[in-house]
Amino acid sequence: MFSETLIELLKKDPKICVLTGAGVSAESGVPTFRGKEGIWKKFRAEELATVDAFLSNPELVLAWYQHRRDIIDNIEPNPGHYALAKMEKHFSDFCLVTQNVDALHRKAGSEHVLEVHGNIMRNKCLTCGKPVNRLDFKEGDDIPRCECGGMIRPDVVWFGEMLPADVFAEANKKSFQCELFLSIGTSAIVYPAAGLPIAAKQRGAYLVEINVQETELSTYADEVLLGPSGEILPKLLMAAGIDI
Ligand code: OAD
Repeated sequence: MFSETLIELLKKDPKICVLTGAGVSAESGVPTFRGKEGIWKKFRAEELATVDAFLSNPELVLAWYQHRRDIIDNIEPNPGHYALAKMEKHFSDFCLVTQNVDALHRKAGSEHVLEVHGNIMRNKCLTCGKPVNRLDFKEGDDIPRCECGGMIRPDVVWFGEMLPADVFAEANKKSFQCELFLSIGTSAIVYPAAGLPIAAKQRGAYLVEINVQETELSTYADEVLLGPSGEILPKLLMAAGIDI
């Protein structure tokens, strides 16, 4: 199932950079964005995940994020998350970049996670940017406000917004330096995150994709491992002789 090249590389303790997307959390029960049951199929993204949407209907947007937090509160990481947490401890130079806002990598024990699209459990002031701890919002509640008067919003990256510059700069640096890049459970179409595997490959990294189906990245990858990440990742670690 795995090439000798990949197994031999893993045994050499290579510099590794991993990019994860919604597919990594699918086996935990978090809906992906673009699949049959994808979040964007049920709601129009521009109604919910933009600053304009928030300004025109903050209650709807906050209620939707509360609904997503409620889902996440009741689910657990899956073997894919745990395998990645194990890899962080095992390899001497390992970087985990995630597009997921669900915080499941941290819950699984990953200590250093570059959350390039933010984290749904955190909030911030729309006006002054001050971080705010988790809020529980119920429909009908007043819109929570910062002491500066600004409305409180989830600390996630919305369409049309910049990624957190320092976090993305670190992700870029690690993808430039790595020898092995794993693109896992992402449709690899939302930039700039989708550019990370390509940048890594252009600088000589061995590029492996793990996904239940082929994506736009597949033709570019050195190896495509088709299947659920919660099954493939533990098997890959075992094949490389890493205790799971
Ligand atoms: P998508 O929903 O676009 O893609 C999920 C990918 O996971 C698809 O390619 C699926 O085939 C794959 N997949 C599903 N189940 C899987 C499993 N068990 N194991 C492995 N792969 C599986 O989600 P993302 O690529 O994460 O951005 O989307 C990227 C960004 O688009 C999100 O972060 C979000 C969205 O707009 C923002 O919210 C800013």
